[in-house]
Amino acid sequence: MAYETLIADAEDGVALITLNRPDALNAFNNQLMDELTAALDRFEADESVGCIVITGSKKAFAAGADIKEMRELSYMDAYYTDFITRNWERASRTRKPLIAAVSGYALGGGCELAMMCDFILAADNAKFGQPEITIGVSPGAGGTQRLTRFVGKSKAMEMCLTGRMMDAEEAERCGLVSRIVPVDELVDEAKSVAKKIAALPRATAMMTKEMVNVAYETPLSHGIMFERRLFHSLFATEDQKEGMEAFVEKRTPHFNNR
Ligand code: CAA
Repeated sequence: MAYETLIADAEDGVALITLNRPDALNAFNNQLMDELTAALDRFEADESVGCIVITGSKKAFAAGADIKEMRELSYMDAYYTDFITRNWERASRTRKPLIAAVSGYALGGGCELAMMCDFILAADNAKFGQPEITIGVSPGAGGTQRLTRFVGKSKAMEMCLTGRMMDAEEAERCGLVSRIVPVDELVDEAKSVAKKIAALPRATAMMTKEMVNVAYETPLSHGIMFERRLFHSLFATEDQKEGMEAFVEKRTPHFNNR
């Protein structure tokens, strides 16, 4: 499929999706979200891909929902077209590991998309924020919920109520991002981490991601039971036998994702 608002390529087990609407700082219009959904569908189905990276430009990961497209929406338009739910949520349902490599602005929906990913690698120039209140709306793609879980009530409230942006250092300090990378190295570093993940047993990575995600949704005892059941099931995989045998035989394992 030919995309107009993003660039999508796969190499060495890693898919790289680069948001590409430079004139609008990668603001999310319907076309971009449809294309992102299509690209994620394609890479989930592609057996050669083990990990997916979403990135933007140096100036902007994404400046949020496209305000110019959104401003004429009525309540009935938003409700009947299922705005956001219809084509934004795909990232949060991705089964393969998904990394956000964020440089520059990640605002509104941009911050929300990054938080739908499994973890965020931030460039040293990254800025995160939920400025929706300054244009008369609230976050609408999970910002009030996910940001609060990442950074706690006080910071989430302040950011959502004032629109204040957080820089990369503050974001790392409060656990929003996994770590900070110099801006010129961000994409290479994200690809290298993704390559490492893609080379590990696929089912184990996908199940581990499910386990961590369940920690947000369930009481501790249920989460631990869920982890235990999936952990037990991994003993049915060929990769478990290979990984453990290779360790004992002091050799490099050869995983076949089975
Ligand atoms: N929607 C549409 N166009 C946008 C945009 C957006 N969210 N953000 C930036 N643009 C456009 C600008 O209109 C401008 O276009 P023109 O050249 O045609 O005027 C171009 O991108 C460059 O932007 P600026 O000139 O504003 O660049 P800047 O460097 O001066 O400022 C910025 C950068 C601080 C990110 C500023 O662009 C900005 O504040 N953008 C809006 C951020 C925002 O409010 N995001 C939340 C959107 S609502 C949302 O996301 C809802 C939700 O939760 C789902």
